[in-house]
Amino acid sequence: MMMVGAYRHHYFERYRQIAHLIPHGASVLDLCCGPGILYTRHLREKSVAYTGLDFNERFVHRVIRAGALGQVRDLRSDEPLPPADYVVMQASLYHFLPDPLPIFRRMLNAARRAVIIAEPIHNLATSRLPVLSYLGAVMSNPGSGAQPNRFDEKSLDDFVRRSFDGSYSSALMPGGREKVYILNVPERPATPLPVPYPTSAISLYHD
Ligand SMILES: C[S@@+](CC[C@H](N)C(=O)[O-])C[C@H]1O[C@@H](n2cnc3c(N)ncnc32)[C@H](O)[C@@H]1O
Repeated sequence: MMMVGAYRHHYFERYRQIAHLIPHGASVLDLCCGPGILYTRHLREKSVAYTGLDFNERFVHRVIRAGALGQVRDLRSDEPLPPADYVVMQASLYHFLPDPLPIFRRMLNAARRAVIIAEPIHNLATSRLPVLSYLGAVMSNPGSGAQPNRFDEKSLDDFVRRSFDGSYSSALMPGGREKVYILNVPERPATPLPVPYPTSAISLYHD
């Protein structure tokens, strides 16, 4: 709700912009997927094979009910990620601060075509006003504690430049609150799911 307020009429446009980058019929792994809005609003109608991972069980159940695959997963663990053509993370990289490199590398390893990261670069938590920054940190707590760390445009640019030596493009999202990076990975052949696949995933997939 807080995010909708901050983005105002650009909130849903962010999903459309990401969906534009993904071709019909591709496979997508959406990390920190929330309730799967990217899928229900855009990717389902493009016959995308979508898998959403999030540590919020209620969100994952919504994804499954919408007809996609979902798994409850704390992405701070170093379990390998299921492979997909496109690995997406929207408005969530800050959850991995102060060291987002491990999750970033795992995303690159799982992607067969590209990693797409869209991340807020303006938010309450980086406000210079202490009351606002406190509110921003507390209200965006996903259940694992208040999160005062955020990216701004420079720290996000620096992180991507330092951590990735392949070709990529980036752009500001409409409204300028979020920046998107499309990181091209060398094309890899289709890879089967890792075996053994976690049992929790299998039970949720057949909810
Ligand atoms: C701001 S929401 C973004 C949701 C979605 N990507 C979107 O843009 O609509 C952040 C999401 O990250 C999830 N999350 C935060 N930390 C996580 C972690 N360590 N592992 C898995 N999910 C996490 C939260 O449950 C929440 O759904």
